[in-house]
Amino acid sequence: MSILVNIDGRLLPPEEATISVFDRGFLFGDSVYETIRTYGGRPFLLDRHLARLSRSAAGLWLPIPRGLDSLRAELDRTLAAAANPESYVRIVVTRGATEGLVNLDAQTAEAGSVLVIVRPFEGQDPACFEEGVDVAVVGVLRTGRRSLDPKIKSGNYLNNILALREAKRLGCFECLMPNREGNLTEGSTSNVFLVRDGRLLTPALESGLLDGITRGFVLELAAEAGIEVVETTLDADDLAAADGLFITSSLKEVMPVKRVKRMDGTVLWEGKVHAIARDLRGRYLERASRCAGL
Ligand code: PDD
Repeated sequence: MSILVNIDGRLLPPEEATISVFDRGFLFGDSVYETIRTYGGRPFLLDRHLARLSRSAAGLWLPIPRGLDSLRAELDRTLAAAANPESYVRIVVTRGATEGLVNLDAQTAEAGSVLVIVRPFEGQDPACFEEGVDVAVVGVLRTGRRSLDPKIKSGNYLNNILALREAKRLGCFECLMPNREGNLTEGSTSNVFLVRDGRLLTPALESGLLDGITRGFVLELAAEAGIEVVETTLDADDLAAADGLFITSSLKEVMPVKRVKRMDGTVLWEGKVHAIARDLRGRYLERASRCAGL
């Protein structure tokens, strides 16, 4: 079991994995990334993650050095060398440095770098799935689509960090960020779903959120299961009227919510793990195992 970092094709232990202080990813968050986990040692939904990495990079006019085929090969090599039963994988593409200069102009950047960070993944606390987690609707708004569009998974996560901090202050596991119109968008690193009258509802991409790979996969699983799915505008009143709630991400899978708090700490919604959330989690895990050849 090991933590390994691949920097532009060089496999390094964490203590030797360094990057220039002039790298724009470090200075400005001028980078894009993906977080993936393995099942049976294989990265799950890799094609979708690489396609999103490409879209994020295109959204920032950021070239991916050596392209996606090379990245895929380096990922395989790093996973094989780390030899973890299951791994957390973070792929980072950074624009690189303007040597010796701190300069906002992206065109001045020299060669970028591709990093693959692999470490053992031990899974989430089982209680999160059995009982559900607390989330808070926070005051920090999700950045608008015309500023730093949330559909770009960039290395600049300060918006999400500030929102998560508010939620943590309220003792919650995750935040839910509204947009300027007061409609729900997403969590700091997850998408949100609610169940109402047997239907599955989730904020539409137009509300300004990341097109989560797990979100998309869960929408497909729900449709396959004959559950009606609706992508629409949703607000705090919709949360209050929900029969069940859950959040999704590559690391959190399908994770039920047991309580939603308001900013003043009062409870907006409280509920049990909904049968639809349990069913979708089962389907998700079944598909992950199947893809892994388990
Ligand atoms: N985050 N929304 C945001 C802002 C996210 O950062 C993430 C994922 C998601 C869920 O996306 P996906 O289903 O593709 O994992 C939604 C990853 C896990 C991270 O930042 O580590």
